[in-house]
Amino acid sequence: MVCFRLSPVPGSGLVLLCLVLGAVSSYALELNLMNAENATCLYAKWHMNFTIRYETTSKNYKTVAVSDPVNATYNGSVCGDDQNGARIEVQFGSGFSWTVNFTKQVSTYSIESISFSYDTKDNTTFPDAKEKEVFTVYKSVTSRIPLDDIFRCNSILTLEERDVNQYYWNVHVQAFVQNGIVSTKEFLCDKDKPSTTVVPIVPTTLPSPTTTPAPKGKPDTGSYSVKNGSSTCLLADMGLQLNITQDKVTSIVNIDPKTMNFTGSCHSQTALLRLNSSNIKYLDFVFAVKNENRFYLKEVNISMNLVNGSVFSVANNNLSYWDAPLGSSYMCKKEQMVSVSEAFQINTFDLRVQPFNVIKGEYSTAQECSLDDDTILIPIVVGAGLSGLIIIIVIAYLIGRRKSYAGYQTL
Ligand SMILES: *[C@@H]1O[C@H](CO)[C@@H](O)[C@H](O)[C@H]1NC(C)=O
Ligand SMILES: *[C@@H]1O[C@H](CO)[C@@H](O)[C@H](O)[C@H]1NC(C)=O
Ligand SMILES: *[C@@H]1O[C@H](CO)[C@@H](O)[C@H](O)[C@H]1NC(C)=O
Ligand SMILES: *[C@@H]1O[C@H](CO)[C@@H](O)[C@H](O)[C@H]1NC(C)=O
Ligand SMILES: *[C@@H]1O[C@H](CO)[C@@H](O)[C@H](O)[C@H]1NC(C)=O
Ligand SMILES: *[C@@H]1O[C@H](CO)[C@@H](O)[C@H](O)[C@H]1NC(C)=O
Ligand SMILES: *[C@@H]1O[C@H](CO)[C@@H](O)[C@H](O)[C@H]1NC(C)=O
Ligand SMILES: *[C@@H]1O[C@H](CO)[C@@H](O)[C@H](O)[C@H]1NC(C)=O
Repeated sequence: MVCFRLSPVPGSGLVLLCLVLGAVSSYALELNLMNAENATCLYAKWHMNFTIRYETTSKNYKTVAVSDPVNATYNGSVCGDDQNGARIEVQFGSGFSWTVNFTKQVSTYSIESISFSYDTKDNTTFPDAKEKEVFTVYKSVTSRIPLDDIFRCNSILTLEERDVNQYYWNVHVQAFVQNGIVSTKEFLCDKDKPSTTVVPIVPTTLPSPTTTPAPKGKPDTGSYSVKNGSSTCLLADMGLQLNITQDKVTSIVNIDPKTMNFTGSCHSQTALLRLNSSNIKYLDFVFAVKNENRFYLKEVNISMNLVNGSVFSVANNNLSYWDAPLGSSYMCKKEQMVSVSEAFQINTFDLRVQPFNVIKGEYSTAQECSLDDDTILIPIVVGAGLSGLIIIIVIAYLIGRRKSYAGYQTL
């Protein structure tokens, strides 16, 4: 079960949302495969689990669920080209392997087939299996996708073959990626397509609220909080995008709040928010008090697994971002960059944080970043008639000076 708090409308309190995926939680698998030029050639992110029926020594049949392929490896995955197919190979647990093959046509590519192997010699999963050997199920699935589109299926896809049911959901996959850039143009599976009765009413230009952003689009906003005893002492709402540059190759990773766990701690002079997930060992934000009346983001530490299996770690405890008076929160709706090192930056979206003096679990007055100021001023100035212009400018000037907005005041 995955629970997270939705960004609260100021004053509305907390909204808890829990997703129950079957009865078990599941980690996303993610592969960002590079070619010899270090450009992305195949990208995939998806969830999957399986049920397997097997014969026992007492001539009965048992069904086991295999989920949470944590610690998966992707050995044998290949980019492919015009002649040879592309392939994702995943290994996990003791003896499970899963392969999907892609082929390329002139203007399309196809998902050809999926095969899944399991080894009943795994006494933990199949304790009393009659036959101790490797079984493989193979399923042909041909589905054609325009070249340079990313296939998306948030709905559950089910494949049944012999004793195995395979379930997939939240699938994003693109093989034969063009020029190293994963597409933002989604090719939806049938189950994700809006029903035809709705289509004429909804203008196609409006983004549907259920659309998950493509991998390199704007990240979803996560809501994180830290408790001290029973009361909330740190609040943070933010969309996070990691920008990792190594050997002149840049990878952009959007943090999916649904897959993140969070913890932390609050003290009088420092506060810590720690995020982690299956790939991210830790992503720490350390806040500190300065001059006894302001707080700021002092330190960021990260350690995460890269797709090729290496570990990426960076720490910087000499930062100075998100500066605001104690007793208020810091807010920046626009994209903002936190530069942790030459190799590592974090882009933040719809940010709001309050690491100290949280009262009743709610944000206090927000101090906005300078980036946000003109978004508020420009429409007002442009929209105002000449007569009102001078008054508006004076008011705007005063607001700009104070940089705080009474609308967010906690009651
Ligand atoms: C790709 O990356 C590897 C390892 O990071 C490096 O050794 C190699 O020189 C790079 N190749 C190119 C073409 O940039
Ligand atoms: C995954 O790997 C970690 C570290 O190597 C290990 O502690 C953990 O037990 C593994 N989990 C599973 C389910 O194998
Ligand atoms: C995928 O392709 C490889 C090599 O082209 C082949 O050996 C394998 O049998 C194929 N697997 C599936 C599931 O089609
Ligand atoms: C599984 O159990 C069988 C019989 O109890 C034993 O012979 C075999 O070595 C075990 N296999 C593993 C991998 O532990
Ligand atoms: C990622 O970082 C590199 C190097 O600092 C920079 O050139 C690039 O514009 C950044 N990309 C994004 C999307 O932030
Ligand atoms: C961050 O990393 C530095 C250096 O590795 C370490 O000294 C420090 O304790 C870490 N801070 C946190 C909050 O984990
Ligand atoms: C993984 O890739 C990074 C960046 O491309 C490189 O620096 C690192 O050496 C690679 N690690 C392994 C184990 O290939
Ligand atoms: C910390 O940053 C400040 C200003 O950015 C710089 O003057 C100082 O030398 C830095 N200190 C360390 C230990 O890197």
